[in-house]
Amino acid sequence: MELLNVQHLRKSFGQLEAVKGVTFSVKKGESFGLLGPNGAGKSTTINMITGLFPPTSGSIFLHDIDVVKQPKQAQKRIGVVPQEIALYQEMSAWENLKFWGRIYGLNGSQLTRKVEEVLEIIGLSDRAKDKVSTFSGGMKRRVNIGAAILHNPELLIMDEPTVGIDPQSRNHILETVKQLNEEGMTVIYTSHYMEEVEYLCERIGIIDHGVVIASGTLKELREKMEDRSRIKLTIDGVKENAADINKVLAGHFSEKEFQFQDNQLIVFHKEPQLVLSELVHSVTETGTRITSVDIVEPNLESVFLHLTGRNLRD
Ligand SMILES: Nc1ncnc2c1ncn2[C@@H]1O[C@H](COP(=O)(O)OP(=O)(O)OP(=O)(O)O)[C@@H](O)[C@H]1O
Ligand SMILES: [Mg+2]
Repeated sequence: MELLNVQHLRKSFGQLEAVKGVTFSVKKGESFGLLGPNGAGKSTTINMITGLFPPTSGSIFLHDIDVVKQPKQAQKRIGVVPQEIALYQEMSAWENLKFWGRIYGLNGSQLTRKVEEVLEIIGLSDRAKDKVSTFSGGMKRRVNIGAAILHNPELLIMDEPTVGIDPQSRNHILETVKQLNEEGMTVIYTSHYMEEVEYLCERIGIIDHGVVIASGTLKELREKMEDRSRIKLTIDGVKENAADINKVLAGHFSEKEFQFQDNQLIVFHKEPQLVLSELVHSVTETGTRITSVDIVEPNLESVFLHLTGRNLRD
């Protein structure tokens, strides 16, 4: 069953069109990842879905609720973990969660029970009475996640929840989200860390410059790569010698099979082992020095590179 349907979403901020016709849908119980580099339009897309501001055009439906026209209705069913941490620093974790619970209409023993349950889920029961100002970034983020799930939302939307936090909290967050999803909560997770999206999400949309440039399961996206691995050669002076290298490679590879990226030459191939020695030999022939060789299996990073010619983290 379809839970969320987003069609032809656009958003302009003055002259800048941040989101340029984004379309996707999310099924109930699914975990959907929105993967893209800085400024791709992830937060802008998320903020429209959560009813923070309306789109310039396009439609968003949660079941049959028109999110653009009835954001309040939709918000009852959505839990949001925004990109910026939003907590009262001088209040304890317990008090912050109580505050959010009341906003969602919980009170009395029901509220107390829910706060206790959520503290358990986010692994902060033992620090519940401490001021949030004494917490690490990762712990604060976990309180934010707690606040987002107090009202048992059908859909949990998280905007880069692991940026800038310690590895231990990061793992805890990933495990928590995985568990919530396995228990039936639908999740939309945005990130520019492909390994998180690979780990958590059944389906993935890759967004760049406000456009979804590819979407599907990890398997489907990998197939776009035609299962080709990447051979990454780091070469001294690759830029100055690009013309020469181009010339020697042209005899062995088609234009689509290699590209230059920073100080590297990247060759896409199904069976890298078969061409490696030939490749090294050809490049060395140009008089340049190879300083490292790396073979990478197809992953989301290679899909992104393949589609855009750029690295996800640049
Ligand atoms: N309120 C705003 N006013 C003007 N421009 C904005 C506003 N919000 C976002 N933008 C611009 O829209 C584009 C997309 O921004 P957005 O925050 O959606 O990207 P993002 O994918 O979330 O990036 P990041 O990974 O850095 O969070 C950027 O060019 C950004 O500068
Ligand atoms: Mg963002």
